[in-house]
Amino acid sequence: MKISLNINNSVFEIRVKPEASLLGVLRGLGYYGTKHGCETGECGACTVLLDGKPVNACVMLALQAEGHRIQTIEALGEHPEKGWKASEGLHPLQQAFVESGAIQCGYCTPAQILAARELLDRNPSPSEAEVREALSGVLCRCTGYIKPVQAVLRAAAVLRGEQVEPLAGVGPILAPPEWVPDKGGGKPGREESFSSPAIVSPDETITRKRVMPRIAMAQQAETYASVGKPEPKVDAIKLVQGKPAFTADFEIRNLLVAKVLHSPLAHARIKRIDASRARQLPGVAAVLTWQDVPRVVYSTAGQSHPIPGPLDTFSLDRKVRFVGDRVAFVAAETEEIANQALELIEVEYEALPELFDPARAMQPEAPILHDEPEFVNFADSDPKRNLAAQIHIDIGDVEKGFAAADYIFEDDYEVSKVQQVHIEPHVVVTYWDEDDRLVIRSSTQVPFHARRILAPVLGLPVKRIRVIKPRIGGGFGSKQEVLTEDVAAHLTIATGRPVIYEFTREEEFIASRSRHPMHIHMKTGVKQDGTLTANAMRVLTDTGAYGCHALTVTGNTGHKSMALYVGDGPFRKSPNIQFIADIVYTNHPPAGAYRGYGVPQGYWALDRHMEKIARKLGLDPLEFRLKNALRAGELHPFSTAWSEGREPSPETIETCGLEACASQGRAVIGWDEKFGNPEWHQVAGKSHLRRGIGAALVMQGTAIPYLDMGGASIKMNDDGSFNLLIGATDLGTGSDTVLGQMAAEVLGVPLEDMIVYSSDTDFTPFDVGAYASSTTYVSGAAATRAAQQAAERVRQRAAKMLNESAGVSLEAGVQAQDIRLADRKAFAPDGRFVTMQDIAYNSLHVSDQEQIMGVASYMSPVSPPPFAAQFAEVRVDVETGQVVVDKLLMVLDSGVIVNPLTAAGQVEGGMTQALGYAVCEEMRYDERGRARERDLTDYHIFRADEMPELETIFIETFEPSHPFGVKAVAEIPMDGVAPAVANAVLDACGVQIDENPVIPEKVWRALKKEMA
Ligand code: FES
Ligand code: FES
Repeated sequence: MKISLNINNSVFEIRVKPEASLLGVLRGLGYYGTKHGCETGECGACTVLLDGKPVNACVMLALQAEGHRIQTIEALGEHPEKGWKASEGLHPLQQAFVESGAIQCGYCTPAQILAARELLDRNPSPSEAEVREALSGVLCRCTGYIKPVQAVLRAAAVLRGEQVEPLAGVGPILAPPEWVPDKGGGKPGREESFSSPAIVSPDETITRKRVMPRIAMAQQAETYASVGKPEPKVDAIKLVQGKPAFTADFEIRNLLVAKVLHSPLAHARIKRIDASRARQLPGVAAVLTWQDVPRVVYSTAGQSHPIPGPLDTFSLDRKVRFVGDRVAFVAAETEEIANQALELIEVEYEALPELFDPARAMQPEAPILHDEPEFVNFADSDPKRNLAAQIHIDIGDVEKGFAAADYIFEDDYEVSKVQQVHIEPHVVVTYWDEDDRLVIRSSTQVPFHARRILAPVLGLPVKRIRVIKPRIGGGFGSKQEVLTEDVAAHLTIATGRPVIYEFTREEEFIASRSRHPMHIHMKTGVKQDGTLTANAMRVLTDTGAYGCHALTVTGNTGHKSMALYVGDGPFRKSPNIQFIADIVYTNHPPAGAYRGYGVPQGYWALDRHMEKIARKLGLDPLEFRLKNALRAGELHPFSTAWSEGREPSPETIETCGLEACASQGRAVIGWDEKFGNPEWHQVAGKSHLRRGIGAALVMQGTAIPYLDMGGASIKMNDDGSFNLLIGATDLGTGSDTVLGQMAAEVLGVPLEDMIVYSSDTDFTPFDVGAYASSTTYVSGAAATRAAQQAAERVRQRAAKMLNESAGVSLEAGVQAQDIRLADRKAFAPDGRFVTMQDIAYNSLHVSDQEQIMGVASYMSPVSPPPFAAQFAEVRVDVETGQVVVDKLLMVLDSGVIVNPLTAAGQVEGGMTQALGYAVCEEMRYDERGRARERDLTDYHIFRADEMPELETIFIETFEPSHPFGVKAVAEIPMDGVAPAVANAVLDACGVQIDENPVIPEKVWRALKKEMA
């Protein structure tokens, strides 16, 4: 039918099907700022304004919009530089989102801005609570909502004509010199000792109106010009405008839509499959079953060669191993036809016995999931016992340690299966280019690994494949898997046509990856004074139907949690630690990588256990932990025992700010006034409520030693700007920005002169991709090295120019090594200078012409751990078991903070994801293995109006193994929230919750049991 749509004051006469959604029509017309995150009106990514009111375009029919005024993000603002044509610049909301660091992946940003616009149109002076309510319809998985809220308040002030303090170029809030005990010997400071740049708003609500985190700077970082500055993200301007930056924002002729038939059974053999009726359906271009694609065994885990896990997966197999497993691929002219075709595929299954209980997996009578002859073992995997991986690590002798203990504490813990819930689903577009090379445009964290893994699966050499990674709308480990690329690529090979395959939200729940659920047994020996004598962890991990990341995720559960506590006194020098794990197959959907990579599971058990021990022995929980915790100068206890299935190598901890983190956090949250104070635990006038406070200490790693590698190249342009090409994958974390800052620091130019591009396997150097908290450290060191090479050429050229203009020889004149680069200039010691632009012109056009550039890579021999203290305050309703988290405070030693704004955003977003893990998120299955949670209604993630107060404090140390002293920040916020919340619940009402998440039912049952 023909309809007329008024979009951003332009009228379109178009033909649509009656069932066409407004979202599909808008995107079809090129309004790519309207995003797809679900199909059911739950995520808000598709928000547009209809007659000024926000609506979800995915659940609105296009014809319902006829006669109304539609506004999309494209109606707002433009880039401030538009050549000879004057630019109106960005809208104040867009500007505020850029300046306030409110954007991480930016996938939800257009929708947030439109929702905020509607609010400010009707209420120019909203309170913070009103802003949060307005944003509550747009889910964000990256930010923790603090900075978007602050951006809206800031824009409101600008729109009211008020003066707002400029943020660009403003540094972080510095701690006074005496604040950190080991810098000045002073006492820990209190929050009142800081002044915060104010954002104008009429009333105070739960979050301080402060964009910058607090930071205690490392002295070595105090002279940097770009490193340490809260620079806006290099991709921010395009993201606030909703430019077509993501994988699906792509136009190409003859594009086919792919769909996958998923298994309804958890374990079955395909006896017969007949796709003939589907193939005959008009508009269907191809249907592929296991009979049509090459049988190549591989692993979907995007890891370095050799992948440290079994090869147990086929693109299509004659056996299915979980509800949601692949049965057939379809490519059709439209999504509707592809869906119809799925229904016409006839499949006869032979049901096989199912296995859902991981404890049964290794029993002799258990059904075997992987009986295929092509299965390739890795290390101790054994498909005949459903064993995807096995780990046994002994450090010292735990039996001796137990014998030396006064007390033995043993307990069991469970951690749940949870989903990454990036708002942009997995999506890929594949096509043959003009050279008949296969182009894979994918929302992937691992473009180079994806290319290597896909080559044999597709029957193409690596050189015939190009993987392009556009902007990514979040990944959190889930996009470290090769899950969709082979589907679209097989269909492009079959049809010769471009194909798009995008997961629905339901597919994200039933066919994607998740965090590994685990059963964890702890046994710990302790002396009366709190000295740990031995610590043992035994883990049973359910990897689901495939063993992707099976070995490495669970290995990290031990490696990065059990390493934190070595004991004290003689035990500190020779700790007794044991870590044993069985990682088993079941007929649940496969688990995989999820931010934290096994470590949040470890800390749930370890830190809950530490809390119990401290309380049983009557010790201060923080002092007890610190007494036994790893310190600077000590050997990482696991470094000689395990390295993700490779040869381990001893590593000494160079920097550890854990004690400072704990003491500052203790002071800022007011631990001593609250912990053990019965008065504070009461809530005035509410006898059914109890307050509680809890803490957890955590550490992570920074990259995988002797394995993670990043490359970078840099070249100078005519105007003295630089192109920085990196293989590193910015999935919304801001890594393009911080890598650009490091290169800019070396070259003495502002970040705006650094044009950063990532990543394309044809053009950017190799990088392992975004995982293991490696990008700032490893890829950052590569970018720094490449910039140092270019800087060396710049200095040589500057010396030559200065000496020529002074009429002196190179030998007699200024030497290259004495030239200092700063403020877009190269300075001689006597103050004379040449500009970067002069140097660029001279080198490209004037004499001894050359391209000034640098190419470098970096592989780290160490993995310096970041450390953190996590605090939580809760209120528990002792009548219903309801837990409300009031505040989360994280104090981190992540080395030098390159960009306080993006780093704080990482911590806030990480704590928010971890909060879901703590109190509400869980994937459950019925007795036939069918997922109960299939959408964002049943699987709840936190909204803007549900958030507790979040606060981040950085205690910088200077990590000597990195040129700018950095350590990782991205994953550690996932580790401590859940145990700190459970410890706070214990503090509030005396109940132990050993299975996460801490839902009201569990608390209520525990309270009842306690009372009985
Ligand atoms: S609410 Fe429309 S895409 Fe999710
Ligand atoms: S920035 Fe909101 S979903 Fe990524």
